[in-house]
Amino acid sequence: MTNHCFIGFKIYLHMSNYHIKGLEEYFNVYRKSIDKPEEFWGDIAEEHFVWRKKWDKVLSWDFTKPEIKWFENAKLNITENCIDRHLLTKGNQTAILFEPNDPTEKAEHITYHQLHERVNRMANVLKSQGVEKGDRVCVYLPMIPELAITVLACARIGAVHSVVFAGFSSSALASRIIDCDAKVVITSDGSYRGAKTIDLKGIVDEALNSCSGVKTVLVAKRINSDIAMKDGRDKWLQPLLDDASTDCEPEIMDAEDPLFILYTSGSTGKPKGMVHTTGGYMVYSAYTFKNVFQYEQGDVYWCTADIGWITGHSYIVYGPLANGATTVMFEGVPNHPDYSRFWEIVEKHKVNQFYTAPTAIRALAKEDLVFVDKHDLTSLKVLGTVGEPINEEAWHWYNDNIGKKNSPIVDTWWQTETGGIMISPIPFATPTIPTFATLPLPGIQPALMDENANEINGNSVEGRLCIKYPWPSIARTIWGDHQRYKDTYFSAYENMYFTGDGARRDAVGYYRITGRVDDVIIVSGHNLGTAPIEDAINEHPAVAESAIVGFPHDIKGNALYGYVTLKETGETRVHDNLRKEINQLITEHIGPIAKLDKIQFTVGLPKTRSGKIMRRILRKVASNELDNLGDISTLLNPEVVEKIIEERL
Ligand code: WTA
Repeated sequence: MTNHCFIGFKIYLHMSNYHIKGLEEYFNVYRKSIDKPEEFWGDIAEEHFVWRKKWDKVLSWDFTKPEIKWFENAKLNITENCIDRHLLTKGNQTAILFEPNDPTEKAEHITYHQLHERVNRMANVLKSQGVEKGDRVCVYLPMIPELAITVLACARIGAVHSVVFAGFSSSALASRIIDCDAKVVITSDGSYRGAKTIDLKGIVDEALNSCSGVKTVLVAKRINSDIAMKDGRDKWLQPLLDDASTDCEPEIMDAEDPLFILYTSGSTGKPKGMVHTTGGYMVYSAYTFKNVFQYEQGDVYWCTADIGWITGHSYIVYGPLANGATTVMFEGVPNHPDYSRFWEIVEKHKVNQFYTAPTAIRALAKEDLVFVDKHDLTSLKVLGTVGEPINEEAWHWYNDNIGKKNSPIVDTWWQTETGGIMISPIPFATPTIPTFATLPLPGIQPALMDENANEINGNSVEGRLCIKYPWPSIARTIWGDHQRYKDTYFSAYENMYFTGDGARRDAVGYYRITGRVDDVIIVSGHNLGTAPIEDAINEHPAVAESAIVGFPHDIKGNALYGYVTLKETGETRVHDNLRKEINQLITEHIGPIAKLDKIQFTVGLPKTRSGKIMRRILRKVASNELDNLGDISTLLNPEVVEKIIEERL
């Protein structure tokens, strides 16, 4: 490291651009970020990160192609920023604090020094298996330290990680492996989930029956189960790590080299492999982490997400580590061994910032308050939510019982595609209002659009949420399908990134996200596209056609309601076995998170004259909003609506 020339390796100056501490400062910084975006991000990048070579240009962009480049021709390795540069000053500070599923198993404190060694060992193991810069590595691991370490090891050697959430089924895993053409898969012998264990390796084996491109499977030991190892393909990870060197020179990457692919559901067809690149993603995830959580040196920060989702990528791994933070990684679930687990962990590790999903809050709010009250939560300073709208009741429960009205709640709106938080209060600066994500972060220029694709100006308005100007961590493409990237995000409105969400801007300019305006349904904070679920259902030999919609659910936010027509002369059969078989198919194709709560068998689906299913009507019936169905007379088959209403579940 010493023989390279670093620029920007300065002692952190107290720059308000990087760490906003009040509302007035926020407005000033925001103004600057809009007036002079290149200067704004250029200064932050230079002052707060280490680069091997400076950029020639901060930003070039064209939303019509679309092509976006940040920090063009700059060179860096993100792991130098997340690990190496902290070694001198905080080598012995905990970087990752691993809290196991079983509360009686000891928590593991991995210091920055140890993280450095372990990431380097893993990087060398990957190299020894033939992984090179630019190769894709599929990571299918539970929330154990090896997951974070593998992600960082890929980044160390310039391999592109593609983490697949370890709750996805074998066929969902297979399609993701095939899409990005991964040669290596890293998994474990199994995982703990509350009182259960899950046979992850079995799922990988099944997936690989249809992925001939995978030559190597590395297996971490977690549950000590007796699993089959395929000769020549499967290797235990630990002996390889034991033999590997703790030195690994970081690969020098271009700022625009891909860092990772992460799949997200689309409203149609197969999942989209969102591609995030190195320089801009690093700058934005670190900057937003610092400001949205007001992280101070020595704080313990905990995000309960899984690293299999974007929240875990940006706000368990990269954002916190780039700031030299202590980040908690929790293997378990909120209700094991009982409903006090989250609060027990907050007390045990004196957590200062706590970031979770509304669905978890709603589930915990249903339980007795003794689960909360027996724990000392006074360490908490900032609370966060992400992934779906938080309802007012849940917000108040969180504010009253967890924050004791003393910790601001940051309701953070963002997406897999945006790489980092876009709209959110800055704690101790932005006054919060329940259910409002409030104001855009510096550099973010939201716009609301009407039905005729015109921007709606002024306040107290509602429309479709777009972003007018690039920010450093916007996804650059969809892996292998740039046209789909263009069609999905840049075609609905000229020169705008379209989010797929609706939003309201209130009288003072605060944003409230109203929900998806496309066929993506957010269930327990997970994005589910209706098309892949319908495709899975339609594989059932008895099924003619199906349509999925969301309906409000107390805990999950939304649950799934399926309308299914059967073959055989249109006769309606209510058949519990069939329901089970349909959910089984969904579990096999996607995973248990996509199972339907209700399945209604119907004689037909309401359709327009051009044959398009009228989901609007199905959504209203599922939500029991029957007084306002709108005009159904133009339908091809208005008579089925009555029947559907009559037989609704
Ligand atoms: C929804 C998660 C309301 C939204 C980081 C978005 C939210 C989708 C919020 C992205 C919020 C996320 N309030 N809705 N605070 N945060 N969403 O890709 O519909 O898993 O488009 O990224 O979640 O989900 P994703």
